[in-house]
Amino acid sequence: MKTTSVSDSMITSIKRGINAILSPLDLQITRIYPNQACTLQWLEEAKQAGMEINEFIEKDQLKPALRELEKLVFPRISATSRICELGPGSGCYTRHLNNKISQGEFHIVDIDTFAIEFLKSYLPNNPATHFHLNSGTSLPFESDGWLDLGFCTSMFTGVNLTYFYRYLQEFSRVLKPGGFFVFDHFDISTDAGWKVLIENMAKKDPVYAYNYHSTETIDKVVSLLGFKIVDRYPTIRGSVFITAQKL
Ligand SMILES: C[S@@+](CC[C@H](N)C(=O)[O-])C[C@H]1O[C@@H](n2cnc3c(N)ncnc32)[C@H](O)[C@@H]1O
Repeated sequence: MKTTSVSDSMITSIKRGINAILSPLDLQITRIYPNQACTLQWLEEAKQAGMEINEFIEKDQLKPALRELEKLVFPRISATSRICELGPGSGCYTRHLNNKISQGEFHIVDIDTFAIEFLKSYLPNNPATHFHLNSGTSLPFESDGWLDLGFCTSMFTGVNLTYFYRYLQEFSRVLKPGGFFVFDHFDISTDAGWKVLIENMAKKDPVYAYNYHSTETIDKVVSLLGFKIVDRYPTIRGSVFITAQKL
């Protein structure tokens, strides 16, 4: 912990010094975050706001994590279930899932080393929880047909349809028949999804990584890959949660 804060303040001082030199040239240096690595950036923003990381994310990004899990996930699992969260980031939802699964298996999968290492120390120890750094296009499980539920939030809102398709194929492979995949996306066919696009583009610095898909597109891929949609739940941040059941 101490090491991190020392190196953070060193980086800030170096940045300030170099920027002071570059300023007359109208140039500045800025920190580059690895692709999609939101967790480090969010930790810094939470620190600046003086808040616990996931209390900050819940407030800043309108994510009532426990309420959404109680509505969408907890009725479909028990303490002995085998579940997987893809793209947990700072663990806003993960912390509640980690409490829930005490005797089954909870697999946490992310492409970002920083997120995985952060969660290993952030989450209370749970022998049922397993951490996996993945390739970014596959689930790190060899066996098929054993998972009860997959969960993924705010990840398909920021990747293109190819990744969505690939991960649907992967969840279709590892889920049991009758198992569920719960995920959210920006549905551009809905008023809420459209509003996200318009409001984002009205910002001084829009988020260019956002991806928006139509209801028809998502439904087509979900159905093609062996699922049926059993629930749609609009979130307060403009995305919609889909609960897809493996046939
Ligand atoms: C915007 S964050 C969302 C974090 C968390 N689910 C939440 O709702 O607060 C997206 C997360 O997905 C991960 N991610 C992005 N692309 C990925 C990919 N192709 N495969 C695995 N993880 C990915 C990122 O590293 C990050 O942790």
